[in-house]
Parts: sequence; C-alpha cells; structure tokens
Amino acid sequence: MSFSAEWLSLREGVDHRARNRDVLAAAAAHLDDVRAGDGTVRIVDLGCGTGSNLRGAAEAFGDSQSWRLVDYDPALLAAARERLSHWSDEVRGDGDDLVLMKGGRRIAVSFLQADLSGGAEEVIADKPHLVTAAALFDLMSPAWIGRFCAGLAARRLAFYTVLTYDGRDAWLPPHPLDDAVNAAFAAHQRRDKGFGPAAGPAAAETLVQTLDYAGYAIVTGDSPWRLGPKDADLTRELIAGIVQAVGETELVDTGELEGWQAARRGAQGEVGHLDIFARPR
Ligand SMILES: C[S@@+](CC[C@H](N)C(=O)[O-])C[C@H]1O[C@@H](n2cnc3c(N)ncnc32)[C@H](O)[C@@H]1O
Repeated sequence: MSFSAEWLSLREGVDHRARNRDVLAAAAAHLDDVRAGDGTVRIVDLGCGTGSNLRGAAEAFGDSQSWRLVDYDPALLAAARERLSHWSDEVRGDGDDLVLMKGGRRIAVSFLQADLSGGAEEVIADKPHLVTAAALFDLMSPAWIGRFCAGLAARRLAFYTVLTYDGRDAWLPPHPLDDAVNAAFAAHQRRDKGFGPAAGPAAAETLVQTLDYAGYAIVTGDSPWRLGPKDADLTRELIAGIVQAVGETELVDTGELEGWQAARRGAQGEVGHLDIFARPR
C-alpha cells in the first residue's frame, strides 16, 4: 500500500502532538539502561515514510543515536533524506548515510529499501537496542504480527510503536450515519494491505496480547488525534480518505455517504490510537 509524502507531511504535526509522553519516557528509560559503551543507541524504524518517527522521538533518546530507516518506497526514502537534512541544525558526512546534528545530539541515519511483507527478521538481525514504528501496525495481519513478535522475543529486543489506530473514531456534531460509516471503514481497514488480511482496528489489541504471550512487560498509553479548527486541512483529507474507503466497500449508500461527507465539512473529532512500549520480562 502506498502513501504520499504530502499526506505524511500533513499528519506529522498532529502525530507528534498525539504521541503519548509516558510511553515515550518508558522507551527512553530503556535506552538509558542499554546504551552501548560509547553511549550510542541503535534503533531500527520500520515503515519509516519520510522519517517522522525519528523527528518525533529523537529529543527523548539521548545525545548519540544511530537510526536505520526502513521502507519499501524509494520516493519516501528520498523524501526522508531531504526532510531530515532540512530538520537538522547541521548535516555532517556525505555518501549514503547521514550524520545529523540536532539540538546538541548526534544522530547517524542510514536508509534501507526493503519490503517487509515477508517479515522483518533480516532488518532486526543485528539486534538493535530498539525496534520502532509509527502508524504501521494496523496494516499488518495478525499472522504477521505473531511472527514478528516471536522474532523480537527470540532476540530479546525491545519494541516501541506509536499511533496504532484502534478504531475509536468520534466526530462532532454526531450524524445518524456515523455508526454505518465507522463499521464500513473498519471493514475496509481489515482488507489485505500487503501483509495478509489486516488486523486494522484490532491491531493494538493484537499486539498487546501477542507481546504479553511472548513474555514482554508492556506499557501502553492512548495517543488520539484531537482534530480542531486548526487541523482543517488534515481533517478534510482524512474525511475524503474515509469516504473513498467506505465507498469501495459498497456497504453504505453513495448518496447518503455524500451527505455524510458534506455534513463533516469543518467537523471536529477524535481518532483513537494506542502507543506501546514492550521489553522482555
Ligand atoms: C502510514 S505510513 C507511516 C509512515 C511513517 N512511519 C510516519 O509515521 O509518518 C506507513 C508506511 O509503511 C510503509 N510500508 C507499507 N507497506 C510496506 C512494506 N510492505 N514494506 C515496507 N514498508 C511498507 C509505507 O511506504 C509507509 O511509509
């Protein structure tokens, strides 16, 4: 499934605002415990897009960080390189890898184009201090999540994922079609996104249960998008995306769906997500 750099850019501010601070602190405390002798933490970011997860977490993760950004979309990896260079105070080094200076931190970044649909074993093989991802796991199937968590557990790796959609959408003002739209959107979310039938809105719960079964201690916290008048551009695009997805399911009458979209103009709302940090018990 492909995502545009424009969409990821539109959501980045709201994503960073939504990130749960307690779960971030738990991940940061873990990194303080395991930091390598030279003080560097090694982190792998799955489905990195344009690098938003790094920009959202780096401030909490200490003075010396080494990130490997993984995505299968070469255009997004190129955009990540460009956006991270602009975001940093200074870019050191050339060639394929970047060394960024930001707020006194040294952040080495390498990029890997890889399709994760067959699993993530290869990209976690060198045992990073943390495996992370943002806004990714609702695309995965329960079977993929099961294999992935078994792979983490076999290597005793810590895991931090943010903004896993949990299906709790609430819009103001309420509309009679809300329940039908939410149900049809959830059905679309469960379609195959390249990893087998997706967990969709059940992804957060599936991850927590699977990690618990795999012997992990887990910290969770809500990270809802709270969309107000200042987020009108993102809300409009989000509503358009929901309408397109619901339309594809043919579960809601087209005319009624157009009415729902019109009524949602200028709407405010909340989209539920869960953040998770897990380390082997
Ligand atoms: C919703 S976006 C999130 C991007 C980024 N983590 C963020 O928070 O902005 C999902 C990302 O997963 C990537 N992705 C989807 N399927 C993939 C696959 N099979 N292998 C690797 N990356 C994939 C997409 O290219 C996209 O960058």
